[in-house]
Amino acid sequence: MTTNQNASNASADTAAVIDGVALSAKLREDITRRTVALKARGVTPGLAVLLVGDNPASAVYVRNKVKACADSGLHSVLERYAADMTEAALLARIDALNKDPSIHGILVQMPVPAHIDANKVIEAIAPEKDVDGFHIASAGALMVGQPGFISCTPYGCMKMLESIGYDLRGKHAVVIGRSNIVGKPMAMLLLQKSATVTICHSATQDLKAMTLQADVIVAAVGKCNVLTADMVKPGAVVIDVGMNRNPQGKLCGDVDYEAVRQVAGFITPVPGGVGPMTITMLLVNTLESAERHL
Ligand code: GUN
Repeated sequence: MTTNQNASNASADTAAVIDGVALSAKLREDITRRTVALKARGVTPGLAVLLVGDNPASAVYVRNKVKACADSGLHSVLERYAADMTEAALLARIDALNKDPSIHGILVQMPVPAHIDANKVIEAIAPEKDVDGFHIASAGALMVGQPGFISCTPYGCMKMLESIGYDLRGKHAVVIGRSNIVGKPMAMLLLQKSATVTICHSATQDLKAMTLQADVIVAAVGKCNVLTADMVKPGAVVIDVGMNRNPQGKLCGDVDYEAVRQVAGFITPVPGGVGPMTITMLLVNTLESAERHL
């Protein structure tokens, strides 16, 4: 088994843990250095984060994003709006931010209230400021292998695979989940690296038969214990995108971590795995947007 400074295993019988906190810290050193260089050339990377309504989980996420910007020297503004903000008012605000030269990235935290059309909101963001990578232009660019912003969570997962020196070429990767934000872009990124990719979802008939063939499993469903130890081939790499609460209120991913780590070769923990990497890649995208602007 390969190990390096971002993956550690307590015993030879259990999976090496890919530490998203440690990897993020390493990547953020580079982000801070590039931000300093950009500032010296007169440009401070700027991110606008818009939150509509009072979803408590979203409030925590946006606070973490704004704090991460500050920690790395990026400028950020957090704009909070009441849950009854009209769609027209939100679209008008996005239009103003599209034209604001101090802002290089615009992020509208999802979900938005039901009376607002999320697709309209996403398409209103200028593609060159779409640091979430949700715009149809960003998704299309990824699909055809053109440069564009990559959705932060799958981008972070790819960095985690890169950190352990994993060669995806010819490997079988199984992605569980088909969301526009994670599952679909994840599959595209794995395909770009020449993996054979299977996307599983709620209508998949025999999930276990699929995952047992996988060299790499990315679980992005949003439900505890979707992936159990009997579903994992010994030595497989398991990436857990889930961030859920179990019936006891304890934070858990989509993977039965304690059991799966006895079988897998590498595994990402929750918390401390993909979560911090998502925010790190948001910083990377914002910084790249500012660099392109310059
Ligand atoms: N809601 C949950 N994850 C995300 C994310 O990465 N970006 C946005 N904008 N909303 C989210």
